[in-house]
Amino acid sequence: MTAAADARPILRIEGLNAHIAGQQVVEDVTFTVPATGITALLGRNGVGKTSTIKAIIGLIDRTGTVELGGVRIEKEPTFKIIRSGVGYVPEDREVFSKLTVAENLRLAERDDAPRRQLVEELFPDLLARSAQMAGTLSGGQQQMVSLARALLNTNKILLVDEPTKGLAPKIVAEVAETLAEAAKTVPILLVEQNLHVVRQLAEGAVVLSGGRVVHTGSALKFLDDAELTQRLLGVSAEGPAGDSPARDNTARETSGKGAAL
Ligand SMILES: Nc1ncnc2c1ncn2[C@@H]1O[C@H](COP(=O)(O)OP(=O)(O)OP(=O)(O)O)[C@@H](O)[C@H]1O
Ligand SMILES: [Mg+2]
Repeated sequence: MTAAADARPILRIEGLNAHIAGQQVVEDVTFTVPATGITALLGRNGVGKTSTIKAIIGLIDRTGTVELGGVRIEKEPTFKIIRSGVGYVPEDREVFSKLTVAENLRLAERDDAPRRQLVEELFPDLLARSAQMAGTLSGGQQQMVSLARALLNTNKILLVDEPTKGLAPKIVAEVAETLAEAAKTVPILLVEQNLHVVRQLAEGAVVLSGGRVVHTGSALKFLDDAELTQRLLGVSAEGPAGDSPARDNTARETSGKGAAL
């Protein structure tokens, strides 16, 4: 592959607009996602992160350009977009609670040769629990099922929405580690409110406010700019030494949609 091809983004969004219930929730959103690594999609509660992801895959009506691997896909129906290589791991990790782990995974298999071995290597705990009803799993284990479902297929990109929300600190670390491993095989656009996790995983950051992109660039540079994170996220991102995912998640577990740090 040439350097130029390497540099081409896997996802290019330009002038994306979307409405929900008559309200514009995504406004002229433009950004790119590189073909490798993790790009964070950040912003306070309700700024349109989930809506942007749903608009990309056509779950909500939108206008604008969506290009996957250099191919325009915005006119395609959702099932074709998914089939063309977009893995979606929704907020609140929906699993089929009355089906076993194995059944949840089998239902997600889309490719002729699903990557069962990769999933077994990444999720040994799930292998051990394959006969367990997914509804009886912990939140962290359900998140792993949700991620595993997306990783079974060969995708061009994964769209992962708040995978650590409401999880205990130790489990947050496990999910983050799994995402880091997954990102070696597929680029990820990650919505994440835990800035410790963002710092650990993300190379690039796209920040939304009021449905619009208000900042793009290096994730680390953004997190190191206390004034900017305070202004755009309402929190000051501390350095690695001071980061405390334990505190984040205790706050989030009790308040539901709490602040990130
Ligand atoms: N189904 C819906 N009906 C009405 N309004 C909605 C619906 N879904 C989202 N909205 C509104 O759209 C805006 C963007 O919501 P969205 O869920 O995209 O934000 P978000 O950044 O993902 O927030 P969060 O951090 O809470 O997940 C918010 O004002 C929200 O209230
Ligand atoms: Mg959301």
